[in-house]
Amino acid sequence: MVTLKMSLSCFFLLQISLFLLFSFDPTNAHGLKVGFYDNTCPKAELIVMKSVSDVMKKDPTIGAPLLRMFFHDCFVRGCEGSVLLELKNKKDEKNAAPNLSIRGFEVIDNIKASLEKECPGVVSCSDVLALVARDAVVAMNGRSWGVETGRRDGRVTNINEANSNLPSPFDNITSLITQFHSKGLDKKDLAVLSGGHTVGIGHCPLIANRLYNFTGKGDSDPNLDSEYAARLKQKCKPTDTTTALEMDPGSFKTFDDSFFKLVSKRRGFFQSDAALLDNQETKSYVLKQTKNHGSTFFEDFGVSMVKMGRIGVLTGRVGEIRKKCTMVN
Ligand code: HEM
Repeated sequence: MVTLKMSLSCFFLLQISLFLLFSFDPTNAHGLKVGFYDNTCPKAELIVMKSVSDVMKKDPTIGAPLLRMFFHDCFVRGCEGSVLLELKNKKDEKNAAPNLSIRGFEVIDNIKASLEKECPGVVSCSDVLALVARDAVVAMNGRSWGVETGRRDGRVTNINEANSNLPSPFDNITSLITQFHSKGLDKKDLAVLSGGHTVGIGHCPLIANRLYNFTGKGDSDPNLDSEYAARLKQKCKPTDTTTALEMDPGSFKTFDDSFFKLVSKRRGFFQSDAALLDNQETKSYVLKQTKNHGSTFFEDFGVSMVKMGRIGVLTGRVGEIRKKCTMVN
């Protein structure tokens, strides 16, 4: 009797193990997985990588706005491609103030066109953004990471949502932490992802208050290194609305860890960068990255990008696979 019971439970255990083995699917709780297109469009990731590398050979400065684009997509309605949609009345995210300085939308549209030729109706615009962000970082000498795919595209874009959901360069640390928290990202993610400012440019009006009239008495931001402030003042005159400066002077096309060295020396470009020193956790992350052999930034960046890439995703049967990234089907 005992032996019969034992062999029955062994049989059931075996059944359960086999079930688990064969039904294992590396899809995460958000319905995304690395290599989602391996069977349905095997060349998808290769096509994206080759296209990014080609455009960046012609214009190495395009990598930064392409990385920024993914962040701006994810923070507004989630990573579902709403930043790419265009409305006739122009009340779309693209026309929101923080997005007016984003370049490279045509790069996404061209990549999507190539993907439609290769496998029509398969690869979403939101996944294109996620893959392009990774490939842009790699093309700027950063480290690669496995991009989760399987997102579907949304059908809504709204200018007001972009204005209210994207953090401002004037935000303080409390506000930044709250905004990131509301998207499921923690203080570490905030510090890590702010490191994206190791590439790219920022426009003068966004730092003019730090240089010329911080407390209304014609003074500079006391949290900005005075030598650096003097240098910035030479390039940004008070009424200059057009000049853009390298946020990481000297290596603004290279994805390195110098952002953290700058911030630690009170040379963060925006108030929101400098603010990382105003919280114990974000500050200690910044300082850790400045230590020789202490930098974990390159690994951390991939991890936080994957986490950011899960915000508000549409998977399974919701949303659609847009034919063109600028319009719903
Ligand atoms: C923490 C909150 C953040 C704020 C307040 C912020 C704000 C800004 C602003 C104001 C600019 C300059 C726009 C211009 O003058 O043209 C900028 C540029 C940029 N941001 Fe952020 N950002 C934040 C987080 C991020 C994140 C998470 C990423 C990506 C992981 C990112 C990537 C970039 C890049 C690459 C640029 C340069 C774009 C270019 O060269 O055109 N930012 N950001």
